[in-house]
Amino acid sequence: MKEIHDFKVLERRQLGSRYFALVLGHGGRMPAVAPGQFVEVLVEGEPKVMLRRPISVHDVDEERGTMTLLIQIVGNGTRKLAALQPDDKLNMVYPLGHGFSTDIPAGSSVLMVGGGAGIAPLLHLSKVLKDRGVDCTILLGGRTAELIPVRDEFEPYGRLCIATDDGSLGHKGLVVEHPSFSESYDMIYTCGPTPMMKAVARSAAQRGIRCEVSLENMMACGVGACLCCVTDTDQGHRCVCKDGPVFDISTLKKWYQC
Ligand SMILES: Cc1cc2nc3c(=O)[nH]c(=O)nc-3n(C[C@H](O)[C@H](O)[C@H](O)COP(=O)(O)OP(=O)(O)OC[C@H]3O[C@@H](n4cnc5c(N)ncnc54)[C@H](O)[C@@H]3O)c2cc1C
Ligand code: FES
Repeated sequence: MKEIHDFKVLERRQLGSRYFALVLGHGGRMPAVAPGQFVEVLVEGEPKVMLRRPISVHDVDEERGTMTLLIQIVGNGTRKLAALQPDDKLNMVYPLGHGFSTDIPAGSSVLMVGGGAGIAPLLHLSKVLKDRGVDCTILLGGRTAELIPVRDEFEPYGRLCIATDDGSLGHKGLVVEHPSFSESYDMIYTCGPTPMMKAVARSAAQRGIRCEVSLENMMACGVGACLCCVTDTDQGHRCVCKDGPVFDISTLKKWYQC
C-alpha cells in the first residue's frame, strides 16, 4: 500500500564530499518496506527540478518509526536535498517498486555487490537476510575509499569486502576482480553502475548462479503511468518503477548480453 507523507529530518550526516544520509520520521508507524523498494522524494524550492527523485530505502527502524536514505550529490535535485537540516520536512511517496527476493533458506550463502550509490539498498537487504540466517558476503566497490560511504554499517551483517580503483582501501581493482567474487554462492544481488551490474550478471549466468539486479533507469511518475523508465526485457517492455527496479537476470538476457 503506497503512502504519501511529510517526513521530518531527524538527523543529517555528511559522508565525505559526495554523500549524505538523512534519517526521517513522520511520527507514525512505518509500513513494511522490502529491501530494494524505493521512495519518490519531492524536491521543494528548486525551480529546475520538476519531478520527484527516486531514492532507495537504505535502512528502516520499525521500532523508532524511521527510514534512512543515503544520497549521492549528482545534480540540482540531490544538491537541494543536501541542504536539508534537522527539523526540515521532506515529502515522500513510498514504498515503491518490487524489491529483492528474501525467501532464501537459512544457511544459504549469498553475495551482494554494490557500487556507488547502489550500495544504498544493500544495508536493509543484509539486515533482513542476516535475520533469516543467511550467510552474506557484502562486496562494495568505488573509485576511492571516500566514495564507499557507510561501509562500517555493513560489518555486523556479513563478511565485508572492498574493492577500490585506486587501491586506497581493500583490493585494488574492480569488484568482479575481487577474490571473493569468484567464490561459490547460492544467490547474487547487485545494485550500482550499469557496466558493473552487467559484468556481475554475465558472470552469474555463466556460473549458473541465481542473480537479481536493481536497475536505476531515469524515472518520472514512479508508479507505472508515464512509461519513461521502460526497459526491454525477455518478456517484453517493463516499467522499472513498477515491475522493478529489481529483476531476476533470467528475464534480462537482452540487457546484460549487450
Ligand atoms: C530506483 C532508483 C533508486 C535510486 N536510489 C538512489 C539512492 O539510494 N541514492 C542515490 O544517491 N541515488 C539513487 N538513485 C539515483 C537518483 O535518483 C539520481 O541520482 C537523482 O534522481 C539525480 O537527481 P538530480 O536532480 O540530482 O540530478 P539530475 O540533474 O537529474 O541529473 C544529474 C546527472 O545524473 C544523471 N542521473 C540522473 N538520474 C540518474 C539515474 N537514475 N541513473 C543514472 N544517472 C542519473 C543525469 O543523467 C545527469 O548526468 C536511484 C535511482 C533509481 C531509479
Ligand atoms: S517512472 Fe513513470 S512509468 Fe516508470
